[in-house]
Amino acid sequence: MPKIDIPSLKDYSSTSLDGFFQAIQDSFEKEEAKVHTLDELEDLRIRWIGRKQGLMNQIGDVLKRAPAEARKDVGTRFNRLKQQIEQSLEAEPASLAPSAAPTDAIDITLPGIRPTHGAEHPLIRTMQEIIRVFEHMGYSVGVGPEVETDYYNFEALNFPPNHPARDTQDTLVVANQQHKPLRDRLLLRTHTSPVQIRTMERTPPPVRIVIPGKVHRNDAADATHSPIFHQVEGLCVDENITFSDLKGTLDQAMKELFGSNVRTRFFPSFFPFTEPSADVQISCIFCGGKGCRKCKHSGWIELLGCGMVNPAVFEFVRGKQPAYDPKKISGFAFGMGVDRIAMMKYGISDIGLLYSGDMRFLEQFA
Ligand code: PHE
Repeated sequence: MPKIDIPSLKDYSSTSLDGFFQAIQDSFEKEEAKVHTLDELEDLRIRWIGRKQGLMNQIGDVLKRAPAEARKDVGTRFNRLKQQIEQSLEAEPASLAPSAAPTDAIDITLPGIRPTHGAEHPLIRTMQEIIRVFEHMGYSVGVGPEVETDYYNFEALNFPPNHPARDTQDTLVVANQQHKPLRDRLLLRTHTSPVQIRTMERTPPPVRIVIPGKVHRNDAADATHSPIFHQVEGLCVDENITFSDLKGTLDQAMKELFGSNVRTRFFPSFFPFTEPSADVQISCIFCGGKGCRKCKHSGWIELLGCGMVNPAVFEFVRGKQPAYDPKKISGFAFGMGVDRIAMMKYGISDIGLLYSGDMRFLEQFA
């Protein structure tokens, strides 16, 4: 690093001071122009404004000898120059190459990093399989909100207030809703059936729709229960829809889902929004109906609820869609639990695994 001669000062007139500071600035700029690396820049910084040995300190010492009347002038110029030097030192690094050999070079001889592939969650996959079966039969697909009003989840589905059927649903409600009329209070939907009402309010018959979605119930978690689970709802409304259509549709759907050997049977059941109502069982897909541990030796597995749409439900919809006149049209509805079907199809013994986020479980579906 070249030494610089600190120029001598004849007197403290502003001409002399100008010349003095200009000479110093020129020397700095000459040295700065030769800097090519970050290391060289650091050397330059230490040489000029290093705290102990920096040239600017030495220059400052020389100037301390200035007579009192020139001090202010000298001080201003000194500070201005120092600031300029500091600023150009700070601005420099962006334009410089790193001193050592570049560290971001790619070593093409290393084995590559294999990106992990995403996989469809078994619940989503099962839901899609169910939907596809009904799409082939001409059904469309719809969705509805998971936070629902009491009206859509219960009232319009013909659950009167205080009706004991509400108790079977173990509803999780949104807090602080008591000031609202019952029908407006919010809850986590306990089934996908409210979307039946929302669909009919929007579209006049004929309707053929399946509705996949997440539902909630205040159930204690165990191997077969989870407070969150999934359903696929179905609704078909048209002229002359009969119970035979319901049976034929579900029988065909179960055969497509589980294989053509599967048989179905229908048992009387109760839902306020269907009349008559039925529970559907399929012949056990594990033993073919002979009886095994999986079907509790009955040969049958219960899979879904269904029934003919209760005329009372059409009456709730008619205000908005007069075409839902129970004298002219009829329909059927069904609802199935996706989690159970996924567990059967993929041999999953604990429903909790579907919600655990455990990679060892999920990777098996990749
Ligand atoms: N929503 C009912 C349940 O969750 C199932 C169902 C849907 C029954 C449609 C009949 C018709 O239990």
